[in-house]
Amino acid sequence: MSRAGASCLSSFSSTAKRVIFTSSGASEDGTVRARRWLGRATKTCLGILTGAAATVLYALDRSALEAGHTSVHPPDHPWTFRGALSSLDHSAIRRGWQVYKTVCSACHSVKYVSFKDLVDVCFTEEEARDIAAEYEQEFEKLKHAQVEDGPDENGEYSTRPCKLPDRVPSPYPNEESARAANNGAYPVDLSYVINARPRGRDYVFGLLTGYTEPPAGVELRDGQAFNPYFEGGSIGMAEMLQDGLVDYDDGTPAYKSQMAKDVVEFLVWTSNQDWDCRKLVCFKGICIGFLLLATIYPIFRQRMNLHRNTRICFVPRKKPCERKECQ
Ligand code: HEC
Repeated sequence: MSRAGASCLSSFSSTAKRVIFTSSGASEDGTVRARRWLGRATKTCLGILTGAAATVLYALDRSALEAGHTSVHPPDHPWTFRGALSSLDHSAIRRGWQVYKTVCSACHSVKYVSFKDLVDVCFTEEEARDIAAEYEQEFEKLKHAQVEDGPDENGEYSTRPCKLPDRVPSPYPNEESARAANNGAYPVDLSYVINARPRGRDYVFGLLTGYTEPPAGVELRDGQAFNPYFEGGSIGMAEMLQDGLVDYDDGTPAYKSQMAKDVVEFLVWTSNQDWDCRKLVCFKGICIGFLLLATIYPIFRQRMNLHRNTRICFVPRKKPCERKECQ
């Protein structure tokens, strides 16, 4: 910048008038107010529209009918662990494990669960050790087993009882043998089935308790049963739960719906092992957030008050600069 320009600028700023309005309301003119009102109205309309769209989507999702799907939507069950502050029922998880072990483990694996995960969730360490020891782990077959017991000096893999860190062994060594034993249908791994299916807990509960006679016109192949909650209706798994099938440790009567509910709660836990912990951390985080907000907000209000209610205007001199070098 030239010397002349700089001196002109300095004379401008030295003579500029600084006007401070401390009340924004008094200085507001009609246009500003109208623009604000328009902004607020647009935001309100957008909010209402978004809310309406979300409601329609939710209603469609809950509806029992859905184009392109050939299964019935399972009913919404009032699970006790659904609330923001409610935990899983750990005695139900224990009973659910019993159902899995007695019934489902004949065909389904839970290969992402290890025995040590059960400790302090539904069993003591001793109990989990005993449960693990009941399984014979065949390392030759179970390629996903994480503990390599062998090869020994002759290059052979050996079988040994499971230990706490081992994962729960699968009933079949691979998918082909599982299909061969189940008329070509594949019993999926159940570890994450609740998260993998839409509305998983209601779906699995519905599936286990919803077997019916096939409607007229539906032909079932050998080994198939009819279940309206399964896509297509024909399922390669027969009805597995019958009243009194499991002898519960805690003496709970083993009705079909009780067993289905317990095994679903167990599977909710296998799919979300940090379920309770996550809620606790969230709750603590929200509490700390509110405390911080309550502390920071008054300070923020105090600091920002002047800035928010101040308008600074620079009013230039009306007369042009009289200095010779500015002409
Ligand atoms: C005798 C073997 C057998 C037993 C025992 C068994 N299932 Fe199945 N299950 C199957 C087969 C086979 C399929 C696959 C069906 C198909 O694809 O047509 C299946 C499918 C399923 C599905 C549906 C998966 C999907 O793709 O949506 C779930 C959920 C399920 N089983 C849960 C269980 C539970 C829980 C138990 C224990 C209470 C159990 N099953 C016991 C053989 C079995």
